[in-house]
Amino acid sequence: MTYETKRHEVHRRKPGRFWYYSAITGFVLTFLLLCYLDEAKPILDPVEHILNLLEQNYAEQWSKKYTAETHLAGTNYGLVEWTRDKFEEYGWKTTIDTYDVYMSHPESNSLNLLDSDGQVVYSASLKEDEISEDPSTRGNDTVPTFLSYAANGNVTAQYVYANYGRMEDFALLKKLGVDVNDKIVIVRYGKIFRGLNVKFAQDEGAVGVLIYSDPGDDLGLTPANGYKQYPHGPARQDSSIQRGSVQFLGGVGAAPGDPTTPGYASKGDVPRVDPHASIGKIPVLPISYREVTPILEKLNDKGPMGPRDWMGELVGFNYNIGPSDGNLLNMYSNQTFNITPIWNVYAEIEGKRKDEVIIIGNHRDAWIKGGAGDPNSGSAALIEVARALGDLKKAGYQFKRTIILQSFDGEEYGLLGSTEFGEYQAQDLKRKVIAYFNMDAAVEGRHLRLGASPILNRLLRKVASWVPYPDGRGLSLYDHFLEESGDRISNLGSGSDYTVFLEHLGIPSADIGFRPGRGDGIYHYHSNYDSFWWMSNFGDKGFVFHNAAAKYLSLLALELSRKKLLDFSVEDYTCALVSYFSQIEAKIPHEWLQLPISHHTARKLRKSKDKNDRFVLDASQSVFGSYQFRKESLDHRSKHHKHQVQHKHRHTPTLGKILDKTRHSLQELSSRAALFDDETTLLQEQYDKRKQLHVFDRIWLLIKIANRNLVLKYFERNFLYHRGLHKRPWFKHIVFASGRYTGYAGQTWPGIGEAVEDGDIKRTVKWLDIAKHAAKRAHFALDYYG
Ligand SMILES: *[C@@H]1O[C@H](CO)[C@@H](O)[C@H](O)[C@H]1NC(C)=O
Ligand SMILES: *[C@@H]1O[C@H](CO)[C@@H](O)[C@H](O)[C@H]1NC(C)=O
Ligand SMILES: *[C@@H]1O[C@H](CO)[C@@H](O)[C@H](O)[C@H]1NC(C)=O
Repeated sequence: MTYETKRHEVHRRKPGRFWYYSAITGFVLTFLLLCYLDEAKPILDPVEHILNLLEQNYAEQWSKKYTAETHLAGTNYGLVEWTRDKFEEYGWKTTIDTYDVYMSHPESNSLNLLDSDGQVVYSASLKEDEISEDPSTRGNDTVPTFLSYAANGNVTAQYVYANYGRMEDFALLKKLGVDVNDKIVIVRYGKIFRGLNVKFAQDEGAVGVLIYSDPGDDLGLTPANGYKQYPHGPARQDSSIQRGSVQFLGGVGAAPGDPTTPGYASKGDVPRVDPHASIGKIPVLPISYREVTPILEKLNDKGPMGPRDWMGELVGFNYNIGPSDGNLLNMYSNQTFNITPIWNVYAEIEGKRKDEVIIIGNHRDAWIKGGAGDPNSGSAALIEVARALGDLKKAGYQFKRTIILQSFDGEEYGLLGSTEFGEYQAQDLKRKVIAYFNMDAAVEGRHLRLGASPILNRLLRKVASWVPYPDGRGLSLYDHFLEESGDRISNLGSGSDYTVFLEHLGIPSADIGFRPGRGDGIYHYHSNYDSFWWMSNFGDKGFVFHNAAAKYLSLLALELSRKKLLDFSVEDYTCALVSYFSQIEAKIPHEWLQLPISHHTARKLRKSKDKNDRFVLDASQSVFGSYQFRKESLDHRSKHHKHQVQHKHRHTPTLGKILDKTRHSLQELSSRAALFDDETTLLQEQYDKRKQLHVFDRIWLLIKIANRNLVLKYFERNFLYHRGLHKRPWFKHIVFASGRYTGYAGQTWPGIGEAVEDGDIKRTVKWLDIAKHAAKRAHFALDYYG
């Protein structure tokens, strides 16, 4: 009260002064308090605590729970509640977050082979064998084989074999004079995302697609080589069928998420668009290699043969392309399409800072009753992560930063749960989230694979060296990774829930899991044989890899929330940028380099640059309210810079010069980043020894650290382009995207790469300029805010 009265008196007399002094006093008091709080001693070693706690391994129990009943996207609310209850039991605050999405569910299907008289000579069952040992393969509650979002239809047509159904495969068919118009195309799984098989086939005029798994893609683990099939050995069960989504995902014109709400969230009564930019119009069925063989055999000696790499290892099929002449296929697919709810389970432990958030995500929905690998090895490990971090909190540990767990729904249909969440909370997530760790299938094999935004590479390697690799040889996860993957952390494309975080929102992301490799059996992806029984007997005896995944993820979240300075390496990030750039550069035709660039193009580029800058500044507001100052100084700087550029290039520049400038900007950024990392390390060291500092030095140190953390937190956002990629506006990241013709596989500098691939010089220039300005913006952030 007294304070209030005083304030008014002073305020009336000397308004400016008062605010000035009280602001400074408040500021100083806050920081003194912060310094004091900072001195609170940690009561336990949290890393040891987590590793010890997880020596008790409950993953098998959770895996059994998740795989006991079907849990196709948007079904099994019991499992939603169970997951929520588990999180709450371990001390997390939870919400069930509902979205209303457009989905399809299977009704019935059939596939018949007809002879030239129209008589049915063979009917495929389109079912997987029941296996007596494996309860997930039996009963009346298994999920039928189907491909979600495949259009309804009943078509009868000739058919052809089209290898992996890639762009280049269809191009080769054309070259060989095989017309796929009005035909059914049979392709084998592999190389690209299955939805794009459908898009390419449809674009060529095909009326249906049949997709099967060829033993030629099983790396020699085949019955022909003497390996027994599941459940008697490591080879693929020949009736196994890969279900999946045939949404177009990252294809040209498409976006992940609900196909009726591209770019915005499907919450309640939102307007919806025609979904066919992101899903197909022709029926598609998946089939086993056992059941496709009698169909493909009819192609023997019909039409040309493809090159060697069109040959799989089906016994009895010569890999002629066709068409099938007299033999026709009748294909019938019926699914119900409607808007139904899906449920993400959200759990949170608040840290000291609520505006610095780490998210760990896994999806819960599976194509089959089991799903012990995909995704519920990750779900089981996520419950263990919740237990470990929750226990740490109960033991009195306070997290510096907020940690969120997400059990997403609808991932399998097209990353629905994560994408809708990302779109719904876009502003908040962009402002608060430091990193997203994705754990889809945690265990499909025994080989650790990492994909990440390179800013996280150092952290991923460091923490991997704290976790034992569970094969009893005394190695760490990192030793194993070094040995098996040559330390190679790949870049992210798409195909799992990190997509919206990294590629739409610019949040550093990582994807973590044990995958099949040397010495592992076939993993029956999206088949009934991805079951609890398979996991217990083949995939992960004793669930020790589940346990390692839980330890790794828990420690990653802990470590990132524990250090005063964000443990990011901008050097790793920018070195990667330079190296990706040189790969792209090598693809630019030599004769382009001398081409003059018109002013019209330059003007267009400048415009987009301005918008870009504003976008990033919006995302990174300063805690000290110097936002205005920064924006002005940036404007000033870019004007100044513009003068310089105009001065230097009085003569029309060439594409070669623009290329040089972009490369140069990236290289400069990378050298600056190396220094920046050193300074960050130094600051952390000073902070660790802060007790030796005078109190005012300590305050100054904290201010520097707060500012630096802001730069680190928003560093990757500098590489967003608000208009998105060419014909894929949902994808905003200019460095990382999935290939537009591959779906899963990642590509770097997609804007430049695609323009070069398309032979589009203007667009190449545009994207080189966007890259250059992003580099300059990032450089500026390191210089001025760091
Ligand atoms: C499925 O099988 C269970 C047990 O065998 C039985 O109780 C249930 O009624 C069956 N459901 C349907 C839809 O047939
Ligand atoms: C599909 O069409 C064929 C004729 O083209 C017909 O004989 C068959 O009954 C149809 N199937 C279904 C399930 O409607
Ligand atoms: C698809 O299945 C539903 C439900 O069984 C049925 O009502 C509908 O007639 C079927 N549609 C077609 C085109 O066969």
